[in-house]
Amino acid sequence: MNESDQQDRFSSLIDDLASQGWSQRAFFAPEVLTRELAVECRKRAQSGQLSAASVGRGGAQQVQEGIRGDRIQWLEPGQSDACDQYLQLMDGLRQALNQAFYLGLEDYECHFACYAPGAFYQRHLDRFRDDDRRTVSAVFYLNEDWQVEQGGALRLYLSDGREHDVLPQAGTLALFMSDEVPHEVLPATRERLSLTGWFRRRGAGVL
Ligand code: OGA
Ligand code: MN
Repeated sequence: MNESDQQDRFSSLIDDLASQGWSQRAFFAPEVLTRELAVECRKRAQSGQLSAASVGRGGAQQVQEGIRGDRIQWLEPGQSDACDQYLQLMDGLRQALNQAFYLGLEDYECHFACYAPGAFYQRHLDRFRDDDRRTVSAVFYLNEDWQVEQGGALRLYLSDGREHDVLPQAGTLALFMSDEVPHEVLPATRERLSLTGWFRRRGAGVL
């Protein structure tokens, strides 16, 4: 992808994040890459590589399906071409965010997530009580032909009291400030795949 293509991809996201604290964009990644990531996520799920996500951090981590029912696997560089391309794209976005907001974002961590039909994630903030590094949350969806009736929206609770639902349609990226926007994942009638991640700044670390 050349530089001006990348700037186009990022500029509306950055403008909206600046004005309202959240943003979303369809066709965020090239469609081929989105499809490859979906294939990879499904393959990892089918071969049993995803594990039940936990709530909390460090010694307090617990699986609690009544709060969060997704299964996840963290991405590491070098796992596949598709993952590396995605990590590169997100690194471009990290740099663009730093240029626009002087956030000092140092890295990006992300995991594949698979919600089976009926699974959900209750309303929460993405900032841990004991670790303030997560600064901007980014969720990239991998589901072709998602219909509103299938549920599964990411529901954002906005500061003016309104709610905004993002459908988990393949190619859509949702971006929001990790400590400002409470959100939840509504249950769906079909499997729901995503790449969920966080741009982090340097912090005191885990206290
Ligand atoms: C999360 C989360 C949102 C989504 O994993 O913290 O809020 O739409 N995910 O999958
Ligand atoms: Mn979240």
